[in-house]
Amino acid sequence: MKKATAFAPASVANVAVGFDTLGYANAAWGDRVTAVRTSALGVKVVSITDFSGKPLPFDLPKDHLKNTAAVGVASLLEHTQADFGLELTIEKGIALGSGLGGSAASAVAGVFAANALLPSPLKKIELLKFCLAGEKVASGAAHADNVAPSLMGGLTLVESLEPLVIQTLPLPKIWTLSLREHVEVKTEQARAILKKEMTLQESVIAQARMGAFVTGCFKNDLATLARVMKDDVIEPQRCHLIPHFLELKKAALAGGALCFSISGSGPAVFAWFDSKLSAAKVQDELADVLTKKRIAFDSAIGEIDRNGAKLV
Ligand code: HSE
Repeated sequence: MKKATAFAPASVANVAVGFDTLGYANAAWGDRVTAVRTSALGVKVVSITDFSGKPLPFDLPKDHLKNTAAVGVASLLEHTQADFGLELTIEKGIALGSGLGGSAASAVAGVFAANALLPSPLKKIELLKFCLAGEKVASGAAHADNVAPSLMGGLTLVESLEPLVIQTLPLPKIWTLSLREHVEVKTEQARAILKKEMTLQESVIAQARMGAFVTGCFKNDLATLARVMKDDVIEPQRCHLIPHFLELKKAALAGGALCFSISGSGPAVFAWFDSKLSAAKVQDELADVLTKKRIAFDSAIGEIDRNGAKLV
């Protein structure tokens, strides 16, 4: 094969109880990367557009040392000692600084497409470290809670970064609502404002909630999930970056959401529901709130995507 195209879904990281560790795939949005073999070595980004080939309303670097897809692909080619290079065409379905794992999805789609062109492609899970190398250039820190679900699909828990180990959790039967106000939040800045320490009491609560969350997923126990999917540590430090966050949260919980919190570093937010009907009702209510305030947004209801990256 000389050419391969891959799609990688957006992802919701942190999931209220697992800062930098939990994430799930959300195929309502995603990025697509086409890799074409070249005889010249190295990785070159030839274009970055939206899905219809139009220029993006935001700037992304084409530089092979700064572009997340290029860096991820280069690390894969180096590791496998490939005797060819690749040209990448990137199509973005995820806006920059949206909190939906856009930089991760480009890295994942690039690495997944490139892998298909190798004489002996690696297994999907073996690609994770190359995706992470790409993601790292965008956020300034290695966190695999976006790349893991975008690559593998489902709900993932990053057990450790070194060595890189992830666990895939069983999916509770829920519907998700994601909503993104059209404002940009830079992950690097949203990380810089976080206090660096937690108190012992905060840590005790966080451990208990994470344990109960995992149990709730295994048992499909939505009442437990609703009780523990709360974030009193990161969310209060970041919610001022998202216009009207508290108003949206109050409306979602009053409308029956099991949980409501920030997706990754925002501005996207997510909520879980026990039925598609209540998700749709709350989607309309949140739309009303933002429309009255003249804030542009988009939103999507769906189930957690089980596939992750795929060739298209
Ligand atoms: N866990 C990361 C953060 C995800 O919250 O900073 C960024 O998308």
